[in-house]
Amino acid sequence: MHILDGKALSDKIKENIKRETKELKEKGIVPGLAVILVGDNPASHTYVRMKEKACEMTGIYSIVHKMPLDISEEKILETIRMMNNNPNIDGILVQLPLPSQIDTQKILDSIDPRKDVDGFHPFNVGRLVLGLDCFVPCTPLGVMRLLKEYNIDVKGMDACVVGASNIVGKPMMNLLLNSFATVDICHIYTKNLKSHTKRADILIVGVGKPNLITKDMVKEGAIVIDIGINRLENGKLVGDVDFENVAPLTSYITPVPGGVGPMTIAMLLENTLKAAKGRLK
Ligand code: GUN
Repeated sequence: MHILDGKALSDKIKENIKRETKELKEKGIVPGLAVILVGDNPASHTYVRMKEKACEMTGIYSIVHKMPLDISEEKILETIRMMNNNPNIDGILVQLPLPSQIDTQKILDSIDPRKDVDGFHPFNVGRLVLGLDCFVPCTPLGVMRLLKEYNIDVKGMDACVVGASNIVGKPMMNLLLNSFATVDICHIYTKNLKSHTKRADILIVGVGKPNLITKDMVKEGAIVIDIGINRLENGKLVGDVDFENVAPLTSYITPVPGGVGPMTIAMLLENTLKAAKGRLK
């Protein structure tokens, strides 16, 4: 069993970004990221703080627009319009989830696709499906990068993705398919989850349920990628996989924390840098 060390790889990537950002600055370009954070969801605040810190560390300018829970849709749209038109802002990120009075899709649709560093705009979603160059959502992109670092090629593998969200599961499915894996995608209406997970050469789980994946559900020698981040009542951070009992079965597995999480942030920085390089064209 080998650990897929996302923390170590993300540190390496951040060093590269720091260097590239410095080079861009010498050409007069300071990459800029604008984050919109609505309400007081503690997890969202934690994630946004981590994103800010990573920007600061790598020399990327960042600004966080904090808005109250009862903000109107129009106010958010107005802020996005301002950021779309601001030449110093390369990336725009709306931290999800948004409160229920807001039409999330309408907000995401209003972001300039060239500044859509989360890859949530239908323009980028469509291009991902077609296998064209685009902004790819950070978490699934981070998974692919982590696999690449360990020379794991998914071509021809049976892959199983558990969780079909727009942020993680669906783009993960498309990236795996674009790399010629055979992909099963499971969700809450899947009849027999184990029958799918058990046959997977690579099992990728992003649901948000501690211990969803137990050792009887995993094939011997499988690669297991755990995207879940769950805070237990005792304060401990765990994924969706029963790590202790599953890990010995696997060929590779990601830990939580220190697996996919740090890769997500590293990919956000890379996407922001990619957007900033667009100014050179
Ligand atoms: N909420 C949970 N994950 C994400 C993410 O990757 N991006 C944004 N914007 N919101 C999220």
